[in-house]
Amino acid sequence: MKASAIANSNIALTKYWGKRDSKLMLPNNGSISMTLDGLNTRTTVEFSPEYERDILIFNGKEISEGREYEETVAFMDIVREMAGIREKAKIATENNFPTAAGLASSASGYAALALAASKAAGLNLDKRELSILARRGSGSACRSIEGGFVEWKRGEKKDGSDSYAVQIAPKDHWDFRMLTTIVSTEEKKVKSRAGMAQTVKTCPYYKGWLETVQDDIDAVRQGILEKDFAKVGSVAEYNCLKMHATMITTKPPIIYWNPATMEIIHAVMAWREEGLESYFTIDAGPNVKVMCMEKDVQELKKRLEGLNGVKEVIVCRPGDEAKTTEEHLF
Ligand code: DP6
Repeated sequence: MKASAIANSNIALTKYWGKRDSKLMLPNNGSISMTLDGLNTRTTVEFSPEYERDILIFNGKEISEGREYEETVAFMDIVREMAGIREKAKIATENNFPTAAGLASSASGYAALALAASKAAGLNLDKRELSILARRGSGSACRSIEGGFVEWKRGEKKDGSDSYAVQIAPKDHWDFRMLTTIVSTEEKKVKSRAGMAQTVKTCPYYKGWLETVQDDIDAVRQGILEKDFAKVGSVAEYNCLKMHATMITTKPPIIYWNPATMEIIHAVMAWREEGLESYFTIDAGPNVKVMCMEKDVQELKKRLEGLNGVKEVIVCRPGDEAKTTEEHLF
C-alpha cells in the first residue's frame, strides 16, 4: 500500500507557545495561521512486510538513527495502531525550502506524513481526524491540514479529541500576502519543542502571555473575517513580540534574532511610518515574515531585497489544504 501527499507550511499570526501535554502535543493556548502557498513538503509512504524496520529518506538521504528518525517511527507507530497493522514502512520526504530555519518544516512535514501514512495504511480519515493525527507529530502541523486562514482550537479534553484546526476563511478570501525573508539557512540552535518547554518552566512572564493570548486570537479571527489588514497585522506583530519576550526571558535565554532580523524589524516599522503598510512576524528562528496586501508586494520585495542581511524573499499567497497526489517519490 503506497500513498503520497503534499502539504504546505504555515505561519502563525497568533502563536502556539507551550504545551499542557507533551505526549499528545496539546497546547496551552489556541493559535491562528495562514497556510503558505509554495512552501511545501511532499511525502510518499509504503507499508510492506518486506521492510524490517521503518526506512526514512529525507531530501534524498537516508536517516537511520537520531531524534528525527525516532520521532518519525513513534509517529508511524500511532498510525499502525490506528489502522491495526504491523508492517514497517518506507517513507520518502522532500521539502522545497530550507529545513529548520524557522520556516516550519515540521508543520508541512507532519501534515504530509499524516495524510500519506494514513492513506497508505488504509485509513480514510476526515479533516478533523487528520488534523488531530498531524498534531501528534508536531503541534503546528495540525494547521497545515487546512488551506487559507486556519485556527487551531486549544480544546479542553484530556484526550485531545477537541484540539484540532479548522478553516476560518478559504485561500481566496482576500489578497493578504506573506513575504518570507531568508536571512539564515542554518539549523536553529534551540528547537521550538525544547524552547517552549523551557519557557513554560522558567519564564516569569509566561503567565502574561497566557492571560492575553485569547484576546489576540479573537481580534485576528475577526480581522480576517472583516478583511481588516491593519487589525490582523498589528495584532499579529504584537503577539509575535510578546512570544519573543517570553523566549528572551527564559532561563537560559533563547534569543532567535540576529542582526539581520533586527534590521528588517526596524525597516518595516520605518516604512510603515512612511505609509507603506506592512507588519512582521517571526517564529523560532531568525527569519522574518512580512505581511502586506497584494498591491504593496513588489515595492516591499524590492526594499527587503535591498537590505544587507536578506538573502532571499519568497512571496507567499494563502495556500491549499494538504492533498494526496499520484506523483510518488519512489
Ligand atoms: C514558534 O509546532 O514546531 O512556530 O509541537 O513541539 O513540534 P512542536 O512545536 P512546533 O512549534 C511551533 C512554534 C512557533 C509558533 C507557531 O507556529 O504557532
